[in-house]
Amino acid sequence: MKKVFLKTYGCQMNVYDSERIMESLSENGYKQTNNLNESDLIIFNTCHIREKAAEKLYSDIGRLKKIRKEKKIIVAGCVAQAEDKQIIQRMPEVDLVIGPQTYHKIPELVSKLNKKIKYVETDFPIENKFDLLKERVRSEKKPSAFLTIQEGCDKFCTFCVVPYTRGAEYSRTAKELVEETKQLLSQGVSEITLLGQNVNAYHGEGLNGGISNLANLIYELSKLAGLERIRYTTNHPVDVNQELIDAHRDIKKLMPYIHLPIQSGSNRILKLMNRKHTCEEYIEIIEKIRNARSDIALSSDFITGFPGETDKDFELTIDLVKKIKYAQAYSFNYSPRPGTPSADYEKQIPQNIKSERLKLLQDILKQQQLEFNDQSKGKIISILVERKGREINQLVGKTPYMQSVFFKNIENKSKIGDFVDVKIDTIKVNNLSGELVEYSR
Ligand code: SAH
Ligand code: SF4
Ligand code: F3S
Repeated sequence: MKKVFLKTYGCQMNVYDSERIMESLSENGYKQTNNLNESDLIIFNTCHIREKAAEKLYSDIGRLKKIRKEKKIIVAGCVAQAEDKQIIQRMPEVDLVIGPQTYHKIPELVSKLNKKIKYVETDFPIENKFDLLKERVRSEKKPSAFLTIQEGCDKFCTFCVVPYTRGAEYSRTAKELVEETKQLLSQGVSEITLLGQNVNAYHGEGLNGGISNLANLIYELSKLAGLERIRYTTNHPVDVNQELIDAHRDIKKLMPYIHLPIQSGSNRILKLMNRKHTCEEYIEIIEKIRNARSDIALSSDFITGFPGETDKDFELTIDLVKKIKYAQAYSFNYSPRPGTPSADYEKQIPQNIKSERLKLLQDILKQQQLEFNDQSKGKIISILVERKGREINQLVGKTPYMQSVFFKNIENKSKIGDFVDVKIDTIKVNNLSGELVEYSR
Protein backbone atom coordinates (compact mmCIF):
# COMPACT_ATOMS: atom_id res chain seq x y z
CA MET A 1 0.00 0.00 0.00
CA LYS A 2 1.33 3.45 -0.92
CA LYS A 3 1.39 6.23 1.61
CA VAL A 4 0.37 9.87 1.26
CA PHE A 5 1.28 12.81 3.44
CA LEU A 6 -1.36 15.53 3.10
CA LYS A 7 -1.06 18.99 4.58
CA THR A 8 -4.00 21.40 4.50
CA TYR A 9 -3.75 25.19 4.74
CA GLY A 10 -6.52 27.80 4.75
CA CYS A 11 -10.25 27.64 5.19
CA GLN A 12 -12.71 24.90 6.00
CA MET A 13 -13.46 24.43 2.32
CA ASN A 14 -9.89 23.27 1.92
CA VAL A 15 -10.35 20.87 4.84
CA TYR A 16 -13.39 19.45 3.05
CA ASP A 17 -11.48 19.20 -0.25
CA SER A 18 -8.60 17.41 1.49
CA GLU A 19 -11.00 14.85 2.92
CA ARG A 20 -12.39 14.20 -0.53
CA ILE A 21 -8.92 13.99 -2.08
CA MET A 22 -7.91 11.47 0.58
CA GLU A 23 -11.09 9.46 0.09
CA SER A 24 -10.51 9.18 -3.67
CA LEU A 25 -6.87 8.20 -3.14
CA SER A 26 -7.86 5.54 -0.58
CA GLU A 27 -9.98 3.93 -3.26
CA ASN A 28 -6.83 3.75 -5.35
CA GLY A 29 -4.80 1.98 -2.70
CA TYR A 30 -3.31 4.93 -0.80
CA LYS A 31 -3.18 5.27 2.97
CA GLN A 32 -2.63 8.52 4.87
CA THR A 33 0.49 8.96 7.00
CA ASN A 34 1.72 11.71 9.31
CA ASN A 35 5.31 10.74 8.65
CA LEU A 36 6.83 12.62 5.71
CA ASN A 37 9.78 10.23 5.41
CA GLU A 38 7.69 7.12 4.93
CA SER A 39 5.37 8.77 2.38
CA ASP A 40 5.43 8.07 -1.38
CA LEU A 41 3.30 11.05 -2.26
CA ILE A 42 3.17 14.50 -0.65
CA ILE A 43 0.20 16.80 -1.18
CA PHE A 44 0.02 20.42 -0.08
CA ASN A 45 -3.55 21.71 -0.26
CA THR A 46 -2.87 25.41 -0.23
CA CYS A 47 -4.46 28.77 0.57
CA HIS A 48 -3.80 32.09 -1.15
CA ILE A 49 -5.82 34.45 1.00
CA ARG A 50 -2.92 36.28 2.65
CA GLU A 51 0.75 36.64 1.84
CA LYS A 52 2.04 34.39 4.55
CA ALA A 53 -0.06 31.49 3.28
CA ALA A 54 1.96 31.13 0.03
CA GLU A 55 5.23 31.78 1.84
CA LYS A 56 4.43 28.93 4.22
CA LEU A 57 4.00 26.60 1.25
CA TYR A 58 7.35 27.52 -0.28
CA SER A 59 9.14 27.18 3.01
CA ASP A 60 7.46 23.81 3.63
CA ILE A 61 8.61 22.55 0.22
CA GLY A 62 12.04 24.08 0.82
CA ARG A 63 12.32 22.17 4.07
CA LEU A 64 11.81 18.85 2.29
CA LYS A 65 15.46 19.18 1.13
CA LYS A 66 16.75 15.81 -0.04
CA ILE A 67 13.51 13.86 0.02
CA ARG A 68 11.82 16.17 -2.45
CA LYS A 69 13.91 14.63 -5.22
CA GLU A 70 12.48 11.16 -4.56
CA LYS A 71 8.89 11.78 -3.48
CA LYS A 72 6.08 12.73 -5.79
CA ILE A 73 4.84 16.19 -4.85
CA ILE A 74 1.46 17.74 -5.59
CA VAL A 75 0.50 21.35 -4.95
CA ALA A 76 -3.31 21.61 -4.86
CA GLY A 77 -5.70 24.37 -3.77
CA CYS A 78 -5.79 28.12 -4.17
CA VAL A 79 -2.04 28.86 -4.48
CA ALA A 80 -1.96 26.25 -7.25
CA GLN A 81 -4.78 28.05 -9.04
CA ALA A 82 -3.20 31.48 -8.61
CA GLU A 83 0.50 30.79 -9.19
CA ASP A 84 0.05 28.08 -11.78
CA LYS A 85 3.23 27.11 -13.68
CA GLN A 86 5.30 29.53 -11.60
CA ILE A 87 5.23 26.97 -8.80
CA ILE A 88 7.15 24.47 -10.90
CA GLN A 89 9.54 27.19 -12.08
CA ARG A 90 10.28 28.09 -8.47
CA MET A 91 10.18 24.54 -7.10
CA PRO A 92 11.12 22.13 -9.93
CA GLU A 93 10.61 19.11 -7.66
CA VAL A 94 6.85 19.70 -7.72
CA ASP A 95 5.23 17.19 -10.11
CA LEU A 96 1.64 18.34 -10.31
CA VAL A 97 -0.06 21.71 -9.79
CA ILE A 98 -3.83 21.31 -9.55
CA GLY A 99 -6.58 23.83 -8.74
CA PRO A 100 -9.59 23.50 -6.43
CA GLN A 101 -12.00 22.74 -9.27
CA THR A 102 -10.00 19.87 -10.75
CA TYR A 103 -8.92 17.75 -7.80
CA HIS A 104 -11.19 14.85 -8.85
CA LYS A 105 -8.44 14.15 -11.43
CA ILE A 106 -5.78 13.51 -8.79
CA PRO A 107 -6.01 9.67 -8.68
CA GLU A 108 -5.70 9.41 -12.48
CA LEU A 109 -2.82 11.89 -12.67
CA VAL A 110 -0.98 10.33 -9.74
CA SER A 111 -0.68 7.07 -11.66
CA LYS A 112 1.16 8.99 -14.43
CA LEU A 113 3.66 10.81 -12.21
CA ASN A 114 7.26 9.69 -12.73
CA LYS A 115 9.37 12.68 -11.55
CA LYS A 116 10.13 13.58 -15.18
CA ILE A 117 6.96 14.96 -16.75
CA LYS A 118 5.23 17.84 -14.95
CA TYR A 119 1.47 18.43 -15.01
CA VAL A 120 -0.51 21.64 -14.50
CA GLU A 121 -4.31 21.39 -14.17
CA THR A 122 -5.67 24.86 -13.50
CA ASP A 123 -8.32 25.39 -16.16
CA PHE A 124 -11.85 25.63 -14.83
CA PRO A 125 -13.26 22.40 -16.27
CA ILE A 126 -16.62 21.98 -17.99
CA GLU A 127 -17.37 18.88 -15.94
CA ASN A 128 -18.42 19.21 -12.32
CA LYS A 129 -16.07 17.58 -9.82
CA PHE A 130 -18.96 16.75 -7.49
CA ASP A 131 -20.55 14.54 -10.16
CA LEU A 132 -17.30 12.64 -10.58
CA LEU A 133 -16.29 12.14 -6.95
CA LYS A 134 -17.50 8.89 -5.41
CA GLU A 135 -19.57 8.30 -2.25
CA ARG A 136 -18.30 9.64 1.05
CA VAL A 137 -16.22 7.14 3.01
CA ARG A 138 -14.49 9.06 5.77
CA SER A 139 -11.35 7.46 7.11
CA GLU A 140 -11.64 9.22 10.46
CA LYS A 141 -14.97 8.67 12.12
CA LYS A 142 -15.66 12.08 13.61
CA PRO A 143 -19.13 13.18 14.78
CA SER A 144 -18.93 16.52 13.00
CA ALA A 145 -18.50 16.90 9.24
CA PHE A 146 -18.09 19.66 6.67
CA LEU A 147 -20.23 19.73 3.56
CA THR A 148 -19.44 22.16 0.73
CA ILE A 149 -22.75 23.31 -0.74
CA GLN A 150 -21.54 26.30 -2.72
CA GLU A 151 -18.29 27.17 -4.46
CA GLY A 152 -16.67 30.33 -5.71
CA CYS A 153 -17.68 33.93 -5.42
CA ASP A 154 -19.01 36.66 -7.71
CA LYS A 155 -18.65 39.52 -5.23
CA PHE A 156 -15.14 40.74 -6.07
CA CYS A 157 -14.29 42.57 -2.87
CA THR A 158 -11.25 44.60 -3.91
CA PHE A 159 -8.86 42.88 -1.45
CA CYS A 160 -9.82 39.27 -2.10
CA VAL A 161 -8.42 36.48 -4.27
CA VAL A 162 -11.28 34.02 -3.87
CA PRO A 163 -13.20 34.94 -7.06
CA TYR A 164 -9.98 34.26 -8.99
CA THR A 165 -8.89 31.09 -7.20
CA ARG A 166 -12.26 29.39 -6.75
CA GLY A 167 -13.98 30.81 -9.81
CA ALA A 168 -17.59 31.81 -10.35
CA GLU A 169 -20.34 31.07 -7.89
CA TYR A 170 -21.87 27.65 -8.20
CA SER A 171 -24.45 25.87 -6.01
CA ARG A 172 -24.85 22.12 -5.73
CA THR A 173 -28.35 20.62 -5.98
CA ALA A 174 -30.37 20.00 -2.82
CA LYS A 175 -30.78 16.38 -3.94
CA GLU A 176 -27.05 15.64 -4.00
CA LEU A 177 -26.58 17.47 -0.69
CA VAL A 178 -29.31 15.46 1.04
CA GLU A 179 -27.72 12.32 -0.40
CA GLU A 180 -24.24 13.26 0.82
CA THR A 181 -25.63 14.16 4.25
CA LYS A 182 -27.28 10.73 4.48
CA GLN A 183 -23.96 9.09 3.63
CA LEU A 184 -22.28 11.07 6.41
CA LEU A 185 -25.05 10.26 8.90
CA SER A 186 -24.69 6.55 8.17
CA GLN A 187 -21.04 6.94 9.25
CA GLY A 188 -21.89 8.27 12.69
CA VAL A 189 -21.98 12.00 11.94
CA SER A 190 -24.52 14.05 13.91
CA GLU A 191 -23.38 17.60 13.14
CA ILE A 192 -22.97 19.11 9.67
CA THR A 193 -21.40 22.46 8.81
CA LEU A 194 -22.55 23.68 5.41
CA LEU A 195 -19.71 25.44 3.63
CA GLY A 196 -19.24 28.04 0.95
CA GLN A 197 -17.15 31.19 0.55
CA ASN A 198 -20.55 32.77 0.20
CA VAL A 199 -22.70 30.11 1.76
CA ASN A 200 -25.79 32.26 2.15
CA ALA A 201 -25.74 33.08 -1.56
CA TYR A 202 -26.66 29.40 -2.02
CA HIS A 203 -29.26 28.98 -4.77
CA GLY A 204 -29.19 25.35 -5.83
CA GLU A 205 -31.89 23.32 -7.53
CA GLY A 206 -34.52 22.44 -4.91
CA LEU A 207 -35.80 18.95 -4.14
CA ASN A 208 -39.01 19.62 -6.02
CA GLY A 209 -37.47 21.67 -8.81
CA GLY A 210 -37.26 25.45 -8.55
CA ILE A 211 -34.53 27.20 -6.64
CA SER A 212 -33.70 26.44 -3.03
CA ASN A 213 -32.07 29.14 -0.90
CA LEU A 214 -29.95 28.39 2.16
CA ALA A 215 -32.91 28.51 4.57
CA ASN A 216 -34.88 26.07 2.37
CA LEU A 217 -31.92 23.70 2.28
CA ILE A 218 -31.41 23.87 6.06
CA TYR A 219 -35.09 23.13 6.52
CA GLU A 220 -34.86 20.04 4.28
CA LEU A 221 -31.74 18.77 6.02
CA SER A 222 -33.29 19.32 9.46
CA LYS A 223 -35.85 16.61 8.61
CA LEU A 224 -33.13 13.95 8.46
CA ALA A 225 -33.16 11.62 11.46
CA GLY A 226 -29.80 11.41 13.19
CA LEU A 227 -28.76 14.91 12.19
CA GLU A 228 -28.78 16.88 15.46
CA ARG A 229 -26.85 20.04 14.72
CA ILE A 230 -26.63 22.19 11.60
CA ARG A 231 -24.19 25.06 11.09
CA TYR A 232 -23.16 27.12 8.07
CA THR A 233 -20.29 29.40 7.18
CA THR A 234 -19.22 31.92 5.80
CA ASN A 235 -21.79 34.58 5.05
CA HIS A 236 -22.00 37.87 3.22
CA PRO A 237 -24.31 40.50 4.76
CA VAL A 238 -25.90 41.31 1.40
CA ASP A 239 -27.23 37.76 1.07
CA VAL A 240 -28.86 37.47 4.50
CA ASN A 241 -32.60 37.22 3.86
CA GLN A 242 -35.59 37.10 6.21
CA GLU A 243 -36.02 33.35 5.68
CA LEU A 244 -32.53 32.70 7.01
CA ILE A 245 -33.22 34.90 10.03
CA ASP A 246 -36.53 33.09 10.63
CA ALA A 247 -34.73 29.74 10.35
CA HIS A 248 -32.74 30.71 13.45
CA ARG A 249 -36.02 31.16 15.31
CA ASP A 250 -37.84 28.12 13.90
CA ILE A 251 -35.36 25.33 13.27
CA LYS A 252 -34.17 23.79 16.52
CA LYS A 253 -31.33 21.90 14.90
CA LEU A 254 -29.87 25.13 13.51
CA MET A 255 -27.25 26.21 16.04
CA PRO A 256 -27.35 29.72 17.57
CA TYR A 257 -24.17 30.94 15.92
CA ILE A 258 -23.58 33.10 12.86
CA HIS A 259 -20.34 34.17 11.26
CA LEU A 260 -21.13 37.41 9.46
CA PRO A 261 -18.01 39.26 8.33
CA ILE A 262 -18.11 43.06 8.07
CA GLN A 263 -14.34 43.79 7.56
CA SER A 264 -14.54 47.47 8.59
CA GLY A 265 -16.76 49.81 10.60
CA SER A 266 -16.23 52.71 8.17
CA ASN A 267 -18.65 53.15 5.27
CA ARG A 268 -15.93 54.92 3.31
CA ILE A 269 -13.65 51.87 3.60
CA LEU A 270 -16.50 49.43 2.93
CA LYS A 271 -17.08 51.28 -0.32
CA LEU A 272 -13.39 51.09 -1.28
CA MET A 273 -13.57 47.38 -0.47
CA ASN A 274 -16.62 46.97 -2.74
CA ARG A 275 -18.53 45.30 0.09
CA LYS A 276 -21.91 46.49 -1.26
CA HIS A 277 -23.40 47.26 2.17
CA THR A 278 -23.12 49.96 4.82
CA CYS A 279 -22.53 49.65 8.56
CA GLU A 280 -26.12 50.75 9.18
CA GLU A 281 -27.45 47.94 7.00
CA TYR A 282 -25.19 45.47 8.78
CA ILE A 283 -26.37 46.61 12.22
CA GLU A 284 -29.97 46.33 11.09
CA ILE A 285 -29.38 42.69 10.06
CA ILE A 286 -27.75 41.96 13.41
CA GLU A 287 -30.74 43.46 15.23
CA LYS A 288 -33.16 41.31 13.23
CA ILE A 289 -31.10 38.19 13.95
CA ARG A 290 -31.01 39.01 17.65
CA ASN A 291 -34.76 39.56 17.66
CA ALA A 292 -35.23 36.11 16.16
CA ARG A 293 -32.74 34.41 18.47
CA SER A 294 -31.62 36.56 21.40
CA ASP A 295 -28.87 34.21 22.60
CA ILE A 296 -27.14 33.94 19.20
CA ALA A 297 -23.34 34.00 19.18
CA LEU A 298 -22.06 36.54 16.66
CA SER A 299 -18.77 36.26 14.84
CA SER A 300 -17.07 38.36 12.17
CA ASP A 301 -13.92 39.00 10.15
CA PHE A 302 -12.01 42.29 10.21
CA ILE A 303 -9.17 43.71 8.16
CA THR A 304 -6.98 46.45 9.64
CA GLY A 305 -4.93 48.84 7.52
CA PHE A 306 -6.85 48.59 4.26
CA PRO A 307 -5.29 51.16 1.84
CA GLY A 308 -6.41 54.64 2.81
CA GLU A 309 -7.70 53.63 6.27
CA THR A 310 -7.30 56.65 8.56
CA ASP A 311 -7.23 56.74 12.36
CA LYS A 312 -10.82 57.97 12.14
CA ASP A 313 -11.88 55.00 9.97
CA PHE A 314 -10.23 52.64 12.40
CA GLU A 315 -11.99 54.29 15.36
CA LEU A 316 -15.30 53.68 13.59
CA THR A 317 -14.42 49.95 13.45
CA ILE A 318 -13.73 49.98 17.18
CA ASP A 319 -17.04 51.81 17.81
CA LEU A 320 -18.93 49.24 15.75
CA VAL A 321 -17.33 46.34 17.60
CA LYS A 322 -18.20 47.94 20.95
CA LYS A 323 -21.76 48.42 19.82
CA ILE A 324 -22.31 44.89 18.51
CA LYS A 325 -20.44 42.84 21.11
CA TYR A 326 -19.13 39.74 19.38
CA ALA A 327 -18.91 36.25 20.85
CA GLN A 328 -15.72 35.75 18.84
CA ALA A 329 -14.08 37.07 15.67
CA TYR A 330 -11.15 36.75 13.29
CA SER A 331 -9.01 39.75 12.39
CA PHE A 332 -6.11 40.25 10.03
CA ASN A 333 -3.63 42.82 8.81
CA TYR A 334 -4.46 43.86 5.28
CA SER A 335 -2.32 41.89 2.85
CA PRO A 336 -1.98 43.18 -0.73
CA ARG A 337 -2.70 40.26 -3.06
CA PRO A 338 -1.37 40.22 -6.62
CA GLY A 339 -4.12 40.75 -9.18
CA THR A 340 -6.61 42.30 -6.75
CA PRO A 341 -7.57 45.97 -7.30
CA SER A 342 -6.68 47.21 -3.82
CA ALA A 343 -3.09 45.95 -4.13
CA ASP A 344 -2.56 48.86 -6.55
CA TYR A 345 -4.35 51.48 -4.48
CA GLU A 346 -2.28 54.41 -3.33
CA LYS A 347 -1.96 55.13 0.37
CA GLN A 348 -0.92 51.62 1.40
CA ILE A 349 -0.65 51.61 5.18
CA PRO A 350 2.75 50.95 6.77
CA GLN A 351 3.10 47.59 8.49
CA ASN A 352 3.64 49.06 11.96
CA ILE A 353 0.35 50.98 11.82
CA LYS A 354 -1.55 47.95 10.53
CA SER A 355 -0.17 45.86 13.37
CA GLU A 356 -0.84 48.51 16.04
CA ARG A 357 -4.45 48.74 14.93
CA LEU A 358 -4.77 44.96 14.81
CA LYS A 359 -3.49 44.65 18.35
CA LEU A 360 -5.95 47.29 19.65
CA LEU A 361 -8.84 45.59 17.87
CA GLN A 362 -7.87 42.11 19.03
CA ASP A 363 -7.63 43.23 22.65
CA ILE A 364 -11.23 44.41 22.51
CA LEU A 365 -12.43 41.31 20.66
CA LYS A 366 -10.71 39.09 23.22
CA GLN A 367 -12.38 40.97 26.05
CA GLN A 368 -15.76 40.55 24.36
CA GLN A 369 -15.14 36.85 23.84
CA LEU A 370 -14.39 36.50 27.53
CA GLU A 371 -17.56 38.40 28.41
CA PHE A 372 -19.61 36.18 26.10
CA ASN A 373 -18.06 33.04 27.58
CA ASP A 374 -18.66 34.36 31.09
CA GLN A 375 -22.41 34.14 30.52
CA SER A 376 -22.00 30.34 30.50
CA LYS A 377 -20.61 30.22 34.04
CA GLY A 378 -22.69 27.97 36.28
CA LYS A 379 -24.92 26.88 33.40
CA ILE A 380 -25.53 23.30 32.29
CA ILE A 381 -24.86 23.12 28.56
CA SER A 382 -25.25 20.34 26.00
CA ILE A 383 -21.92 19.41 24.46
CA LEU A 384 -21.19 17.31 21.40
CA VAL A 385 -18.06 15.35 22.31
CA GLU A 386 -15.51 15.67 19.50
CA ARG A 387 -12.14 14.45 20.69
CA LYS A 388 -9.86 13.46 23.53
CA GLY A 389 -8.11 16.22 25.49
CA ARG A 390 -4.43 16.29 26.45
CA GLU A 391 -5.01 15.34 30.06
CA ILE A 392 -5.78 11.81 31.18
CA ASN A 393 -9.45 10.96 30.83
CA GLN A 394 -10.26 14.38 29.44
CA LEU A 395 -12.73 14.91 26.61
CA VAL A 396 -13.41 18.01 24.52
CA GLY A 397 -16.62 19.05 22.82
CA LYS A 398 -18.53 22.05 21.53
CA THR A 399 -21.46 24.02 22.88
CA PRO A 400 -24.23 25.11 20.50
CA TYR A 401 -22.42 28.50 20.49
CA MET A 402 -19.17 26.96 19.11
CA GLN A 403 -17.24 27.24 22.37
CA SER A 404 -14.84 24.40 23.15
CA VAL A 405 -15.48 22.72 26.49
CA PHE A 406 -13.05 20.50 28.41
CA PHE A 407 -14.33 18.02 31.00
CA LYS A 408 -13.25 14.93 32.92
CA ASN A 409 -14.86 11.78 31.66
CA ILE A 410 -15.88 10.43 35.06
CA GLU A 411 -16.11 6.61 35.18
CA ASN A 412 -15.75 6.58 31.41
CA LYS A 413 -19.38 7.54 31.14
CA SER A 414 -19.14 9.21 27.78
CA LYS A 415 -17.29 8.85 24.48
CA ILE A 416 -16.60 10.75 21.27
CA GLY A 417 -19.85 11.35 19.39
CA ASP A 418 -22.05 11.56 22.50
CA PHE A 419 -24.11 14.54 23.57
CA VAL A 420 -23.48 15.20 27.25
CA ASP A 421 -24.50 17.85 29.75
CA VAL A 422 -21.64 19.73 31.35
CA LYS A 423 -21.88 22.26 34.17
CA ILE A 424 -19.50 25.08 33.28
CA ASP A 425 -17.23 26.25 36.09
CA THR A 426 -14.12 27.76 34.45
CA ILE A 427 -14.04 30.43 31.79
CA LYS A 428 -11.15 31.37 29.49
CA VAL A 429 -10.96 33.42 26.31
CA ASN A 430 -10.65 30.38 24.03
CA ASN A 431 -12.41 27.66 25.98
CA LEU A 432 -14.57 26.65 28.90
CA SER A 433 -14.35 23.74 31.28
CA GLY A 434 -16.75 22.04 33.59
CA GLU A 435 -18.08 18.85 35.12
CA LEU A 436 -20.03 16.10 33.50
CA VAL A 437 -23.55 16.30 34.92
CA GLU A 438 -25.56 13.70 33.20
CA TYR A 439 -25.25 11.19 30.44
CA SER A 440 -27.91 12.37 28.04
CA ARG A 441 -27.58 10.02 25.09
N1 SAH B 1 -16.44 35.20 1.89
C1 SAH B 1 -16.07 35.73 3.13
C2 SAH B 1 -14.60 35.81 3.37
C3 SAH B 1 -13.67 34.83 2.84
S1 SAH B 1 -11.98 35.12 3.09
C4 SAH B 1 -16.67 37.13 3.26
O1 SAH B 1 -17.12 37.70 2.32
O2 SAH B 1 -16.63 37.67 4.32
C5 SAH B 1 -11.86 35.11 4.85
C6 SAH B 1 -11.39 36.39 5.43
O3 SAH B 1 -10.04 36.63 5.12
C7 SAH B 1 -12.10 37.63 4.96
O4 SAH B 1 -13.33 37.81 5.58
C8 SAH B 1 -11.14 38.72 5.27
O5 SAH B 1 -11.32 39.24 6.55
C9 SAH B 1 -9.78 38.00 5.19
N2 SAH B 1 -9.07 38.44 4.00
C10 SAH B 1 -9.36 38.18 2.72
N3 SAH B 1 -8.49 38.78 1.90
C11 SAH B 1 -7.62 39.45 2.67
C12 SAH B 1 -6.49 40.27 2.43
N4 SAH B 1 -6.11 40.57 1.20
N5 SAH B 1 -5.82 40.77 3.50
C13 SAH B 1 -6.21 40.50 4.75
N6 SAH B 1 -7.27 39.74 5.04
C14 SAH B 1 -7.97 39.21 4.03
FE1 SF4 C 1 -13.78 37.37 -1.03
FE2 SF4 C 1 -15.89 37.02 0.53
FE3 SF4 C 1 -15.62 39.22 -0.89
FE4 SF4 C 1 -16.14 36.93 -2.11
S1 SF4 C 1 -17.48 38.02 -0.68
S2 SF4 C 1 -14.68 38.46 -2.77
S3 SF4 C 1 -15.00 35.50 -0.86
S4 SF4 C 1 -14.32 38.54 0.78
FE1 F3S D 1 -7.69 30.19 1.21
FE2 F3S D 1 -8.79 29.36 -1.00
FE3 F3S D 1 -10.05 29.07 1.28
S1 F3S D 1 -7.61 31.19 -0.75
S2 F3S D 1 -9.37 30.84 2.42
S3 F3S D 1 -8.17 28.09 0.73
S4 F3S D 1 -10.96 29.50 -0.68
